[in-house]
Amino acid sequence: MRFLITGTAGFIGYHLAQALLGAGHDVIGLDGFTAYYDTALKAARSARLARHPGYVEHRILIEEPQALDRVWGDDPVDVVVHLAAQAGVRYSLDNPRAYLAANITGTFNLLEAIRTRPVRHFLLASTSSVYGCNASVPFREIDGADHPLTFYAATKRSTELMAHSYAHLWGIPTTALRFFTVYGPWGRPDMAPYRFVDAIATGKPIQIYNHGRLARDFTYVADAVEAVSRLIDRPPAPPAQRAVTTPIEGDSLSPVAAYRVVNIGGGAPTDLLRFIALLEEAVGRPAERHYVDMQPGDVPRTFADVALLEALTGYKPSTPLADGVAALVDWYRTEWPG
Ligand SMILES: NC(=O)c1ccc[n+]([C@@H]2O[C@H](COP(=O)([O-])OP(=O)(O)OC[C@H]3O[C@@H](n4cnc5c(N)ncnc54)[C@H](O)[C@@H]3O)[C@@H](O)[C@H]2O)c1
Repeated sequence: MRFLITGTAGFIGYHLAQALLGAGHDVIGLDGFTAYYDTALKAARSARLARHPGYVEHRILIEEPQALDRVWGDDPVDVVVHLAAQAGVRYSLDNPRAYLAANITGTFNLLEAIRTRPVRHFLLASTSSVYGCNASVPFREIDGADHPLTFYAATKRSTELMAHSYAHLWGIPTTALRFFTVYGPWGRPDMAPYRFVDAIATGKPIQIYNHGRLARDFTYVADAVEAVSRLIDRPPAPPAQRAVTTPIEGDSLSPVAAYRVVNIGGGAPTDLLRFIALLEEAVGRPAERHYVDMQPGDVPRTFADVALLEALTGYKPSTPLADGVAALVDWYRTEWPG
């Protein structure tokens, strides 16, 4: 198949592109190499993808519609996986415009491009942050997600809704992927797993938010990629053509469009202090801990219900946290001189 993946120089996009290229597919990659974090890491990911003959990359910003037209060219694309975004919860407090441009305008441009170039399946990255401080755990796809705590979450929820309207109006089979704290080799330097490993390894202090009273549902990146790869082959059917097999699959579907939301999570929350202990063990030295207050916009706990993912794909993430952390630390030590 021929894929268009946005955000291929990014963390998840890089891993997904590697997996699809490895399986013999062609991938058109697109990435704006934004300076949100070290672009050398993006360039290193991109250089590794460029070794595959089936990979072509375009360095463009998705908020520029003419650039998107050039990427597509004349050949049809079977599946689009939209991962490019201004990510990060905390950065959105001070830089909301970056989220407006990349997430809202950029996703709109992509939807407009897909409208006139039909695809078998459009998958877009959303986030566990859309659940806000949903008190009912685990977070299920049918839970309310209309009280975002940050502008990042608001833009991501908006992209889900925009995609739903396009799925309905233009018959685009669409899956919104709600990722829960993805971590692993080639991970994002702005996220806690990498920041903590780097700080512990170099003897710098780490800040522990809410005095450690936080829990996150961590998802190992290879598990997230396996989940997405399997969902690619499960586009939601339009309402008129549905043969629903289980209530959970049926309930997750939009009543009017070929559209659904799927959680991509480990399926179990881990206390932050336990996570830090695992990192200390893997790095082989103790962290210098600075306990600080809860950060604005942060949520105390994330916890994915992955029953829908399992019902659709027969798969749920299974990499033990200690193994994933060990792989992250190993990559940090041996492959990433950053
Ligand atoms: N990593 C996680 O834990 C996590 C959790 C929830 C949701 N997500 C979502 O998953 C997706 C991928 O996340 P990631 O962790 O790989 O992030 P990432 O920042 O590593 O990757 C995103 C890529 O998009 C590119 N990009 C940003 N703005 C762009 C623009 N305007 N035009 C073109 N390219 C642009 C960046 O250069 C980057 O390489 C994002 O949509 C993110 O919001 C990630």
